[in-house]
Amino acid sequence: MNKIRHLAIIMDGNGRWARAKNKNRSYGHSKGLENLKNIIKKIVNLKIRYLTLYTFSFDNWKRSTVEIKYIFSLLDNYLNKNYLELKKKKISVKFIGEQNRLPLKIKKLINIYNNRNEKRPKLHINIAFNYSSKKELLNAFKCIKNKKLNINEKTVNKTLYTKLFPDPDLLIRTGGHKRLSDFLLWQISYTEIFFVKKLWPDFNSKDLSNILRNFKVIKRNYGK
Ligand code: FPP
Repeated sequence: MNKIRHLAIIMDGNGRWARAKNKNRSYGHSKGLENLKNIIKKIVNLKIRYLTLYTFSFDNWKRSTVEIKYIFSLLDNYLNKNYLELKKKKISVKFIGEQNRLPLKIKKLINIYNNRNEKRPKLHINIAFNYSSKKELLNAFKCIKNKKLNINEKTVNKTLYTKLFPDPDLLIRTGGHKRLSDFLLWQISYTEIFFVKKLWPDFNSKDLSNILRNFKVIKRNYGK
């Protein structure tokens, strides 16, 4: 039986979910956040230790200013409101991604969370925000070159944003598309990937349990 230490999720489909209900895309994102809170509860109960969430990609800047601002405000409100609650629940939140171009308010929030250290957290949440896997890798290569180190798997792993996390065991993408969208390309070399048709606001804890049941019995060969 496979154990799961690290789950990564591409929470896709908020926009289409809202459109199907004649609402704007922002409404879909707020429902997406509601759903995320439920899924996090489930993940804590399941004792999964690491969770990486694709929340805003570097390419999401191509969206309308209204939508971008709304996603930023959701993040801002959620993390400001839940600062103490997350600590009480022993949930550590860290960010991966580029900080430049982000509003000062968001940068400050990211720094507060990135510098806060929980003692033995129950769950480590890694929020991929303004994240691009290709940029993460290029930054790592540049950093290795500047430090005049050898380029090998170990030095790359140690230079990525995810250096403190094990590689994901399982990646779930909701919303029906079978693509990776510049997410954790290096880290998912041996990750089991599940593409789900349901749109993110509809994805529930039962869906997660079903995937985990299937994941547990996969024979993971790692090229053997
Ligand atoms: C993808 O759906 C979703 C996003 C780009 C944003 C994800 C944000 C949340 C789940 C809520 C916010 C959470 C935090 C912590 C701020 P899409 O917009 O690409 O949907 P579509 O494919 O239907 O257009």
